[in-house]
Amino acid sequence: MKDGFTVAIDGPAAAGKGTVSRAVAEHFGFAHLDTGLLYRAVGAKVLEGMTAEEAALTLVAGDLDNDQLRTNAVAEAASKAAAIPEVRAALVDFQRSFAMRAGGAVLDGRDIGTVICPDAQVKLFVTATPEVRAERRFAELAAKGFDVTLAEVLAEVQARDARDSTRAEAPLKPADDAVEMDTSTMDIATAVARAIELIKSRIAE
Ligand code: DC
Repeated sequence: MKDGFTVAIDGPAAAGKGTVSRAVAEHFGFAHLDTGLLYRAVGAKVLEGMTAEEAALTLVAGDLDNDQLRTNAVAEAASKAAAIPEVRAALVDFQRSFAMRAGGAVLDGRDIGTVICPDAQVKLFVTATPEVRAERRFAELAAKGFDVTLAEVLAEVQARDARDSTRAEAPLKPADDAVEMDTSTMDIATAVARAIELIKSRIAE
């Protein structure tokens, strides 16, 4: 694989982009970066009392391996920190270097196809209705033993969608040349198979 072959997978929370990203990275042997973890790690530090700007500037790789990053409170703090231009700016170089690594890379997030890697060879925008996404996130959180209701998760998903799509800096939106995939009524295997076909066709070009 050519170095710098980049797959950009964007979309709202719990649309399935993480699952699709991990599966295609494994299939093609690409490295994978879940960029939401960068913002979550910043959000977690904000909850501990640091400013978002300082947290973004002092982030280290070890901060990303924290089981506590998957909570709703951290997701909300991440979404708030992600609206601050200085926070986004501090995280750009790391993401772009990751995209250029040898052997190909998959990055998933909100602005990969639009801002971080506008020249990505493959851009996928994965969506699903807010209700379906809330059900998926609720099932994940319940399985991990978090005490939440479906209504709370739906409200959190909708608030995060609204904040992520309306912020001035790098809002959540499909790139003009992204392929959109609605996974509301699609199973994981179908979504992964479609993404693999798309990537294969771009590799062959
Ligand atoms: O993908 P996620 O749910 O883990 O992301 C958490 C928050 O981080 C999300 O609500 C918005 C922000 N984010 C972002 O602004 N840009 C990205 N590329 C990834 C995440």
